[in-house]
Amino acid sequence: MSNEAIIHLDVEKGEINPNIYGHFSEHLGRCIYEGIWVGEDSDIPNTKGIRNDVLEALRNLDIPVLRWPGGCFADEYHWKDGVGPRSERKRMVNTHWGGVVENNHFGTHEFMLLCELLQCEPYICGNVGSGTVQEMQEWVEYMTFDGESPMANWRKQNGREEPWSLTYFGVGNENWGCGGHMRPEYYADLYRRYQTYVRNYGENKIYKIAGGANVDDYRWTEVLMREAAHLMDGLSLHYYTIPGDFWKGKGSATDPSEDQWFITLKKALHIDELITKHSTIMDQYDPQKRVSLIIDEWGTWFDVEPGTNPGFLYQQNTIRDALVAGLHFHIFHNHNDRVQMANIAQMVNVLQAMILTDKDKMILTPTYHVFEMFKVHQGATRLSVDTVSSQAYEYNGESIPAVNVNASKNQDGTVNISLCHVHPHDESEVTLDLRGIEKVSDVAGRILTANESNAHNTFEKPDHVAPQNFEDVRLSGHKLTVKLPPMSVAMLTLR
Ligand code: AHR
Repeated sequence: MSNEAIIHLDVEKGEINPNIYGHFSEHLGRCIYEGIWVGEDSDIPNTKGIRNDVLEALRNLDIPVLRWPGGCFADEYHWKDGVGPRSERKRMVNTHWGGVVENNHFGTHEFMLLCELLQCEPYICGNVGSGTVQEMQEWVEYMTFDGESPMANWRKQNGREEPWSLTYFGVGNENWGCGGHMRPEYYADLYRRYQTYVRNYGENKIYKIAGGANVDDYRWTEVLMREAAHLMDGLSLHYYTIPGDFWKGKGSATDPSEDQWFITLKKALHIDELITKHSTIMDQYDPQKRVSLIIDEWGTWFDVEPGTNPGFLYQQNTIRDALVAGLHFHIFHNHNDRVQMANIAQMVNVLQAMILTDKDKMILTPTYHVFEMFKVHQGATRLSVDTVSSQAYEYNGESIPAVNVNASKNQDGTVNISLCHVHPHDESEVTLDLRGIEKVSDVAGRILTANESNAHNTFEKPDHVAPQNFEDVRLSGHKLTVKLPPMSVAMLTLR
């Protein structure tokens, strides 16, 4: 069977919110400390404590929004411990993540500086699990109040005269689990209470995000929407692609077995069903789709790299991760009527990271390259794509589509078509029928691919998996034919 799709260049399906390309950075393992923050006195070149090599690489991704400080850490984080002179900041134990000492050197001011340097929006997650309403209220006041107030005065004393602009604020994290083991009814009441004090000061308008469901916990979404939809702007959802059993063994990040390959990609595609079902519940309470679904944690979760701290969640990143990322983006785009933000877990050194560091060294992962290749979709208009025929990737009596296609149009009329090809052995020819356009004069392509299913970058071979020009593209009238090698992510740009 062939692979054929029609791309309707004149059928527009709404904007792809740039925030779908958001990130997440938690005080977990070496994400914040070493991965981002090295301190002003470090030998590693830095800007006010933030390492320059990582900063420069991240800037190239046009990151729209960054979530912080957790994750599970958020519901144990007391923000007041992380402001003021660094030498006087309280030290705590990061009980969730490896039991290491957290010196609070990276706090609110440092995070806001990072966002300024990345030119992205901050998304702060507040503490409901072990924090008070007053603490949450005062954090928002500290960050955003423009005038005379106890918290604004304290901020000024700590060196920041102007308030920051803060839009995205999460009221708790995983409150069904590490954020308090609550029932949805109880959390819905707490959400109503806490969010009351998340105030809008002056011109600053907060977009309130309620802690959402885990995977297929549809009852959580049902209860939250029923009891509190009118008081929220977004409701979150967490879904990790885990090929094995979470507790008994998730599988190795660099495991070459085909079984693991197939299961991973099948599970990545499963987020489509999850979004559809959670959105259907949301539709009952919010048919206008005012409340967004915010997938503020997603990505692969494998066993940690051998010999590393199990609490640090450090894993390698292969061409398989690149495909997981590409498929997620396609699915998020397809749900752009409800999904308005997504934050991959996590930015550096943790889970499906963009960047891995080893002291002063840094490498970019295959996932980084997908974020870079796909950034052209940010803020673009999604185009209608009809699949006419599609080859299946069959394994062990099960099958998933081998090729997945998505397209968008930029404001200047440039059309970008992304393709994910998950088959680990066969190449696939794909014919794209371009409708609704007079003439295509130019096509350029880039491709990320590999010869081995566990191909990854190392500190010795940092460019083993990196995008290349894609030459196997033929344009004949309105038909575009491409030959995709096994295990590849491609981006075609039409002008
Ligand atoms: O991203 C790692 C952890 O996964 C987060 O802290 C938590 O929210 C989730 O369970």
